[in-house]
Amino acid sequence: MEVLKQIDKLVQEAQEEIAVSGSLGKLEELRIKYLGRKSEMTSILKGLGNLPADLRPQVGKRSNKAKTSIEQMLQKRNDELSDEIFNTLREDEFVDITEPGTKYESGHLHPITQMRMELEDIFTSMGFTIATGPEVETDYYNFEALNIPKDHPARDIQDTIWTVDGNPLRTHTSCVQIRTMEKFKPPIRAISIGRVFRYEETDASHEHTFYQVEGLMVDRNISVANLIAVMRTMLKAVFHREVKTRLRPGYFPFVEPGFELDMNCLLCGGKGCQVCKYTGWNEMLGCGMVHPNVLKRSKVDPDEYSGFAFGMGLDRLVMMRYQINDIRLFHSADLRFLEQF
Ligand code: PHE
Repeated sequence: MEVLKQIDKLVQEAQEEIAVSGSLGKLEELRIKYLGRKSEMTSILKGLGNLPADLRPQVGKRSNKAKTSIEQMLQKRNDELSDEIFNTLREDEFVDITEPGTKYESGHLHPITQMRMELEDIFTSMGFTIATGPEVETDYYNFEALNIPKDHPARDIQDTIWTVDGNPLRTHTSCVQIRTMEKFKPPIRAISIGRVFRYEETDASHEHTFYQVEGLMVDRNISVANLIAVMRTMLKAVFHREVKTRLRPGYFPFVEPGFELDMNCLLCGGKGCQVCKYTGWNEMLGCGMVHPNVLKRSKVDPDEYSGFAFGMGLDRLVMMRYQINDIRLFHSADLRFLEQF
């Protein structure tokens, strides 16, 4: 009988196709093809009513059996394919959690920048504001206003680089003292941190380009005692311990009296070592009471006000903190050096 053969053939075809189907998607296509609403099987069942009554039960039974067997084949293949997927997943997506991870490089701030930010924090916490000035200065701010006239021998100590139109690259941050006093009336508490330049032959302790922090405090009754107190507070905060300081006379034309401030050598604890050249002390900074001429020129009345100023090299400070023995490393762009901070 034609219909029964048709049914058997469908089962046969389905079996062949299901056996070689390689994915769950393909399997779903086959389910639609053999059992879906538009499948041959469905139309056979729909056409049952048109068959002679005596054939109906036989055809009905055969097609139901066929449907069940195709469903079972689909289910079996579905299980096989799922297992396969799961097993390869285990291999493909295996993660060895004991394997070393990937290290992503990230940059960080230069040690001098770190020191700069620390100093800014220390001084702002003492009520100082942060001032700035240009790196290419004028003769007036770098020398003249600081009590260093054209023929003054102190100009030789700070020999410098000049632009073609006759302006100096600032040799210190002291110029910002003047710019600050021109802009603000006392009381003044300000620091300024920045790059300075010298016409200098470089060696382990000299660079043509380095960093300074300048400080200025002007008010009524400011004395050397205030200067010492602020310097001690600063050094203690930078080195995280008690420090001893001493003042020695020092000459800077824009302060009177002028001092060099030394700090006890933290390396040897004052006993004497290579770093402190066996003196037990390290020279930290220049400082003093702002010279009346400087105050006057900046329109501050020296009879009413007095002030102190200091200037300190940042490079030196960082070198001392980390025991770095060559200032030229800072601008060497050598990652072996920089990555240590
Ligand atoms: N400007 C001086 C220098 O560069 C340091 C200094 C600043 C000294 C302020 C006294 C007061 O050497």
